[in-house]
Amino acid sequence: MSKQAASAVRGDFVDDIPAAARPRAATAGGPRLLELHAINAAEDAARLLAGLLAGQARTDPKFFYDAQGSALFDAICHLDEYHPTGTEAAIFRQYRAEIARELPRGLQWVDLGAGDAAKSREWLAAVPARRYIGVDIADAWLRPAVARIAEAYPRIEAIGVVADLTRPLALAPLLAETPDAPPLFFYPGSSIGNFPPDRALALLKAIRLLGAGHGGLGTLLIGVDCESDDARLVAAYDDALGVTAAFNRNLLRVANRVLGADFDPRAFAHRAVFNREESRVEMHLVATRDQTVRFTVPDRAERDFAAGEHIVTEYSYKYTPARFTALLEAAGFTDVRIWQDAEQRFAVCLAAAG
Ligand code: AVJ
Repeated sequence: MSKQAASAVRGDFVDDIPAAARPRAATAGGPRLLELHAINAAEDAARLLAGLLAGQARTDPKFFYDAQGSALFDAICHLDEYHPTGTEAAIFRQYRAEIARELPRGLQWVDLGAGDAAKSREWLAAVPARRYIGVDIADAWLRPAVARIAEAYPRIEAIGVVADLTRPLALAPLLAETPDAPPLFFYPGSSIGNFPPDRALALLKAIRLLGAGHGGLGTLLIGVDCESDDARLVAAYDDALGVTAAFNRNLLRVANRVLGADFDPRAFAHRAVFNREESRVEMHLVATRDQTVRFTVPDRAERDFAAGEHIVTEYSYKYTPARFTALLEAAGFTDVRIWQDAEQRFAVCLAAAG
């Protein structure tokens, strides 16, 4: 699919930091919760529809994660076949003390895509943090997650930020409130893999700039899934129990709700393939029969799917340690260090913003 079509679906990510948008407080009482930009539901719906009507139908992976999709993703993380979560956790466990020793004292821990913040909760016991900033698109998850951090670590100032990482990251004013606390950006789970390389580079550049704003003392701690043999990679996205298939088809439920559409999830099959040229796992939903789908929101529309035609629902990019190091360096990071499991299926990278 064309670059333009991809960016129409994904939103325009710009790599310069927008003019200081003052975060505004969204709650009173309890830990601070800020909204960097309102999640624009109308715009999201228009983009979702545009993607589904495009020549090659495609949807942004962010649409997977309604309550049911988030629960299914959580189940995926516990599957035997899905290696990233467990492998990353094992690397963290084995090298936590060694990594923590590299980090500056009194840092602000910025949890990008915090979710339930479980990974950060473990890190904060080992890391000299004075501030926790959890960033996530889903405020329903963020509120309790930040509250749990505040409860577990009463001496750490805990803040929640509702933001969509596919949009510009306007964290500078918040980070500047504690100018002597160097930021540590924590981006685990190979979430970076959902961005095509050019957009991954733009996001990493934006993070680097935020980190460099603090005397160059900012740090990035990021997890990335690695290339391995095709069969094992595909199995991670096509498990025997069909959990990933359900996660994928859930996209159709989301589309039905958001777009007032009439997709029949039973009429689409899950498919996962490894595209070695592009070094990405692709998830597709393949129409199992000819059908017409109707949409009513934001506009009336319909689309025919012929049997065998597919919707691209996710790209999950894989890296070699060398290629990911090159990407980090292209974004301006230095002193890249990497920790891996014995099978080298996953990499945890630490890099300096200075
Ligand atoms: C959350 C993007 C890291 O690509 O492995 C898991 C999402 N999709 N199984 C990934 C996912 C299907 C996951 N990320």
